[in-house]
Amino acid sequence: SKSVYQSPSTLLVKPNASVTLNCSHKIPSYDTILWYQRSVEDTALNLIAYAYYKTPTVEPSYKGYFDVKGDGENEAFLHILKLRQAEDSGEYFCAASLHSGTET
Ligand SMILES: *[C@@H]1O[C@H](CO)[C@@H](O)[C@H](O)[C@H]1NC(C)=O
Ligand SMILES: *[C@@H]1O[C@H](CO)[C@@H](O)[C@H](O)[C@H]1NC(C)=O
Repeated sequence: SKSVYQSPSTLLVKPNASVTLNCSHKIPSYDTILWYQRSVEDTALNLIAYAYYKTPTVEPSYKGYFDVKGDGENEAFLHILKLRQAEDSGEYFCAASLHSGTET
């Protein structure tokens, strides 16, 4: 099945703490795991980072605050390096996909 698993489901941490979120899938040929944030400050769903195979990419506006590790074919981890209370509070979603080749 095309299931994607994310953990933990909820997390409460203090400002400045580091956080790791897990995401995994077993979908054959899917090679990319993407992480999105919907912060309480900005309700848009924003792409933070993704792992294409083992190549991590952090979107420019999130560099220095987030890191991504792992393998888009299997399991990837989003790291919040030093949690900022307002900007980083919210919902995080992961997704698995086939690399489109059109990402900017
Ligand atoms: C996240 O993944 C790591 C490494 O596989 C594991 O040790 C940890 O227990 C996982 N955490 C959660 C909340 O699933
Ligand atoms: C977080 O870090 C900043 C800068 O180092 C510091 O001013 C602030 O007191 C810290 N906040 C907490 C809750 O530790």
